[in-house]
Amino acid sequence: MPGMKFTAVPANTEDAVVIPDGYRQKVVIRWGDPVLPGAPDFDFAAQTPEAQAKQFGFNNDFAGLIPVDGVPGHFYLVANLEYPTEPFMFTGYREGAPTEQQARIAMAAVGIAVVEIVAKNGTGALEPVVGPRNQRLTASSPFRLTGPAAGSEFVRTAADPAGTTILGTFANCSGGLTPWGTMLSGEENFNNYFANASKVTDPKAAERLDRYSFADDDDEHQWGRYDKRFDLAVEPNEANRFGYVVEVDPHDPKAAPVKHSSLGRCKHESANIHVVKNGPDRGTVVAYSGDDEKFEYIYKFVSSRKIKSGLSKTAREHNIRILDEGTLYVATFTGDSPDDSGTPPASGKFAGKGSWKPLLTSNADGSARSHVPGMSPAEVAVFTRQAADAVGATKMDRPEDIEPSPMTGKVYCALTNNSDRGTDGKAPVDAANPRNENKNGQILEISDDHAGTEFTWELLLVCGDPTAADTYYGGFDKTQVSPISCPDNLAFDPHGNLWISTDGNALGSNDGLFAVALHGARRGETKQFLTVPIGAETCGPVIDSDRILVAVQHPGELDDHSADNPASHWPDGGNSQPRPAVVAIWRDGGTAIGV
Ligand code: FEO
Ligand code: CA
Ligand code: CA
Ligand code: CA
Repeated sequence: MPGMKFTAVPANTEDAVVIPDGYRQKVVIRWGDPVLPGAPDFDFAAQTPEAQAKQFGFNNDFAGLIPVDGVPGHFYLVANLEYPTEPFMFTGYREGAPTEQQARIAMAAVGIAVVEIVAKNGTGALEPVVGPRNQRLTASSPFRLTGPAAGSEFVRTAADPAGTTILGTFANCSGGLTPWGTMLSGEENFNNYFANASKVTDPKAAERLDRYSFADDDDEHQWGRYDKRFDLAVEPNEANRFGYVVEVDPHDPKAAPVKHSSLGRCKHESANIHVVKNGPDRGTVVAYSGDDEKFEYIYKFVSSRKIKSGLSKTAREHNIRILDEGTLYVATFTGDSPDDSGTPPASGKFAGKGSWKPLLTSNADGSARSHVPGMSPAEVAVFTRQAADAVGATKMDRPEDIEPSPMTGKVYCALTNNSDRGTDGKAPVDAANPRNENKNGQILEISDDHAGTEFTWELLLVCGDPTAADTYYGGFDKTQVSPISCPDNLAFDPHGNLWISTDGNALGSNDGLFAVALHGARRGETKQFLTVPIGAETCGPVIDSDRILVAVQHPGELDDHSADNPASHWPDGGNSQPRPAVVAIWRDGGTAIGV
């Protein structure tokens, strides 16, 4: 297939980014590299919160490239900095007991980076430009809350009695780029930052926290010791101010970034946009998002306004508010197999139908309508999981990235795994989630009536060992594929192939990046393009015609290892500490990838 003509990288456990023969690679930016003017050089042993707030943060996840207006060859690299893993950031770290300095470094290490980068030397290498275009959003940066949650009783706090200005973003996992030149970022595991869930005594508030998995044991970062807004016993509503889709405009560093409550509150993995191209709904914007936790749901938002084309200031101002007006839906799936038991139908592939149940319609004037009996619009916007429970949404195997193909409009969702499926009275298999104790995940392909409420679906891949009977590679010859496990982030190449990065490979080798053919006789062919170092997960990715970017997240993070005992020395080698980093890969001579 065009785009997939490279020699597949075999499964391995190297402490390196392993790429196909004939390709080159170079780190673009690493944890600690300067971003804002005045940032000091990284010093692992003498890190400070002030330095970290001006440097690239920890655990880069989503990455995207947005052209800088009027400056050819320059891009904004937008990157999520998902979470701090303190035992790998500090030597001598006491698990669960950060010092104040360590906690404040962690608060500055998360969020989002916008970094101007420039292509160098006629190769695919990219170099950061430390200058005024760059932004570092941290756990302290101000965001404007929009949509039905804004100003509601659920988000008002002592520091923000109006309930409209939220300090910080964190747990930013995957994301997406909009056609109007902004970045969307999903706030995912935000429950891991709050103390004292058990001390919230109001039964309704406690039940809501529980539905979002807040628990004392899940407070991994212990920020509440030093900043009382992260202590639920002091400020229970602070929890309700995270879990949104965030929008950042790299073209306007002075504008406050936005949290869109009209898209609901959950563990958003990402948000990716499809614009309806034909018919009466032409110009309608549809944003797809998944809630990444076991047995959670798939959502979409359909705008009630149409997009204005182009990148003019007027068009951008119109489009940047489009995600505040429209209807949020959640997905239900049914299968074609007679008993919906996880047995494939006669076609040999899992397939079926589905529909979108409306939850919330948000309007331009700030008014909104709930479609869920007994819940107000603000309740649906803030406690979206309960709203989705009420309409009978289908419990999925951890919806990670969900992204429409720019070529066909079909929507792909990575369901990464679900070790609890079918255990202890939890939801058993169904057609779209066909394996109990699912260790390897699956890729769902949805043919959606984007602005409408009906769809059909099938599983493109049922991942895992290709020699095992319970795997399916789109009908392609399984003896000819690279084994893939735990799909996480998705992207498309200009030829229409799907690219998948993995997290947590259950087959015993390092995580990687794979290309999957979607069309023609080779549909389902799966080839590994690269692998990441020991203990890392593969994130990002950006797939352009002549360059690929991957974010290498948490290199060296293996059990029984830490900064005192590093399992990886990537990317700097020698005895260095591992550092999460974004890497560019290109082909010798600059020719197109995989052709
Ligand atoms: Fe942060 Fe869903 O992975
Ligand atoms: Ca993941
Ligand atoms: Ca991930
Ligand atoms: Ca993606």
